[in-house]
Amino acid sequence: MLKGVFPLERFSGLGTPFYYYDVHLLQKTLDIIKEELKNPSWQVHYAVKANADPQILRLIAAAGLGADCVSGGEINEALDAGFQPGDIVYAGVGKADWEIRLGLEKGIGRFNVESEAELEVIESVASECGKVAPVSLRINPDIGAHTLAGITTGLAENKFGIYHALAESVIMRTLDMPHVKFCGLHFHIGSQILDMSDFAALCNRINDLCARLDRKGIIVGDINVGGGLGIEYGHPNHLPIAAFGNYFEVFRRHLDGHRPVHFELGRSVVAPCGTLISRVLYVKEGLSRKFAILDAGMNDLVRPAMYHAVHRIENLSSDGPEQAYDVVGPICESSDVFGKGIILNECRRGDIIAIRSAGAYGQSMASCYNGRPLAPAVYSTE
Ligand code: LLP
Repeated sequence: MLKGVFPLERFSGLGTPFYYYDVHLLQKTLDIIKEELKNPSWQVHYAVKANADPQILRLIAAAGLGADCVSGGEINEALDAGFQPGDIVYAGVGKADWEIRLGLEKGIGRFNVESEAELEVIESVASECGKVAPVSLRINPDIGAHTLAGITTGLAENKFGIYHALAESVIMRTLDMPHVKFCGLHFHIGSQILDMSDFAALCNRINDLCARLDRKGIIVGDINVGGGLGIEYGHPNHLPIAAFGNYFEVFRRHLDGHRPVHFELGRSVVAPCGTLISRVLYVKEGLSRKFAILDAGMNDLVRPAMYHAVHRIENLSSDGPEQAYDVVGPICESSDVFGKGIILNECRRGDIIAIRSAGAYGQSMASCYNGRPLAPAVYSTE
């Protein structure tokens, strides 16, 4: 079985579990994004929710990307890491008043507004602060994406955005507000999308809407197409970098007009560079299956339990005969399973297990459930 290359000697001296970040791979990914983006009026805002580890954020900020934030906390984290306020965009269906005030005071680049009710609050907070809020309207395009049900966002039944048919009337309201400046439209159809035709469908929806608005004399300054580019969870050793070239090409080919375009990529930037490293605590024979019980649990990486997400798992310590294991954690929940019937080299107590492609929505979604401390981060360059 082909496995990732890791500094096992270094790992043997470290307590587990921890997140290991391949800084070189992240840097290479950032270089490729910049190379593939090509158009100088296109900008990528890294979706901070995918991984807000301070060192990771600093590297991404230093590469010149903007930040996509979904809370006041993330705005502060992005600013601390060195992102320019004007390069920060802020989305979220439930922005609290203090978060709106923070965004205004810090001078963030854009509020992606998700409802008419929110628009009114932004107008009133901006008026109190004596500021004008730059806003885009987040439009719900009612487009499905071929991904996990829990991470689609662009359907009419999802809570996100303003239904596309109502866009015009909400824009008209925006134009009447003295403390709000209408700048553009924002979309996001879901996450872990590998079928590029989903993004082409989004482009068509955007083109139709912009043409309709154009006919009414409404000028859309720029377009934010959100994030969502998926990665190959099954093949981290063969395909360690997402298909950025194909992704940007879809928008180059299908999006009409010459407006600036913003992207909000999260997973594709950071998922491959992160691995959850743990040890086998016990191997247990069940009635019909064998369990490899790890010292990492669903509190460290919740994706398999929460979305039935699949991460490649490798036993880094063993070349023994391959066997099928249910790979589980120590948490008191039956759903604390990283994978069932996973083929691993024979496991023994103390073996080091790598759960791959965990750099996105791993550490950032971790919790202290069951009184467990948060797994720390370890970097390849330390
Ligand atoms: N923009 C908006 C408005 C979003 O809601 C998201 C992700 C992104 C950008 C970044 O999407 P990405 O490029 O990472 O796909 N916890 C789930 C994923 C939730 C994604 C939420 N929104 C998971 O572990 O799969």
